[in-house]
Amino acid sequence: MMRPQFRWSHERRRVLTALVLAALALVVVQVVACTSRSGSGASKAPPPSTLTGPAAIPLRQLAARRHLEIGTAVDDVALTSEADYRTVLADQFSLIQPENAMKWDATESQPGHFDFSGGDRVVAVARQHGQAVMGGPLVWYFQDPPWVDGGNFSRDQAIAALWDHIHGLVGHYRGVVRSWIVVNEALDDGGGSYRDNVWLRSIGPDYIAIAFRFAHEADPAAKLYLNDFDVQMPGPKTDRMIQMALGLKAQGVPILGLGSQFHVFRGITSIDFSKVSLQMRQVADAGLDYAVTEWDMGVALPATPSDLARQGRLAEDLLRACVTAPRCPAFIVWGFTDRHSWIPSQTPGYGAATPYDEQLRPKPAWAGLAAALRAPG
Ligand code: XIL
Repeated sequence: MMRPQFRWSHERRRVLTALVLAALALVVVQVVACTSRSGSGASKAPPPSTLTGPAAIPLRQLAARRHLEIGTAVDDVALTSEADYRTVLADQFSLIQPENAMKWDATESQPGHFDFSGGDRVVAVARQHGQAVMGGPLVWYFQDPPWVDGGNFSRDQAIAALWDHIHGLVGHYRGVVRSWIVVNEALDDGGGSYRDNVWLRSIGPDYIAIAFRFAHEADPAAKLYLNDFDVQMPGPKTDRMIQMALGLKAQGVPILGLGSQFHVFRGITSIDFSKVSLQMRQVADAGLDYAVTEWDMGVALPATPSDLARQGRLAEDLLRACVTAPRCPAFIVWGFTDRHSWIPSQTPGYGAATPYDEQLRPKPAWAGLAAALRAPG
């Protein structure tokens, strides 16, 4: 009597297990179908390498057709320790920018003692995958070692320190790093005046021209940029930056263009892209390149599907403005995965700012970037 009962209950368990598995499979299929229908669940989609059709084409391949570099800032530690990070980086991006590894505090923490280890790791990966590198910033008011920030330099001492640093760093990567952010954030928040920093205090505003000249001496082929934030729209800061760049050019300073950081903080909901396009055209008309150097968009956590969809539309619009602009050679995201993004520490409560989620699944922002690169025009 026991045995049949045992068999019956064993089979019942198998049937029940099969039913539960079937129900689970149905739920999974419905969730996938639902998220892809709503367009808001691309964060749940598989990585592009497993997609088929046009969605499988990597961003860098799409960007090459538009004669544009699609870039990302990279975390040089993740680069060595995370294989999946390296794979997506290699597949998707044609330009990389060391997020921190070529900054002053990382490269010359003591006067004259250079450490190129982080930058060299980035360059090795870029070489392996045929990627361009944008380095820098060479001169900034932030992420400087104490001997620089607290330096009580005479004008000559400050110029000598700039010479050593720029020649040391740009010289090391001569012919390898193709473009540099030479001066970062030279203007204050409203653009009304120069931002205070040790170079302005010890040299005066011509520290900017001096830095560009030193970078050009160290690598005459490198493309040199002035970079700032809040310069994506017409306005006093943007005007001032263009005037500054044109003034430098008129003095024969080798500046190729402007970099616009384009961090979108705290859930800005809409941006007037006709103004952004207009701005890009005005910069080109002035004879300058305009690169988007640091795009990301922090959203309030936990991110909702509609936030991510909005982020995707913004990415698409912005990259489309760049694609259709006369002189927008590069579009760089400030980190490509939410696993390594500066936004949560910069603006607590916000995050999910990049095109891939923490598991390296593409989000609507990835789809937006791809759509902009595929769009006609
Ligand atoms: C940020 C990095 O992403 C952080 O890891 C670091 O702690 C601070 O700097 N504008 C710039 C970038 O030009 O260099 C900054 O990068 C982000 C703002």
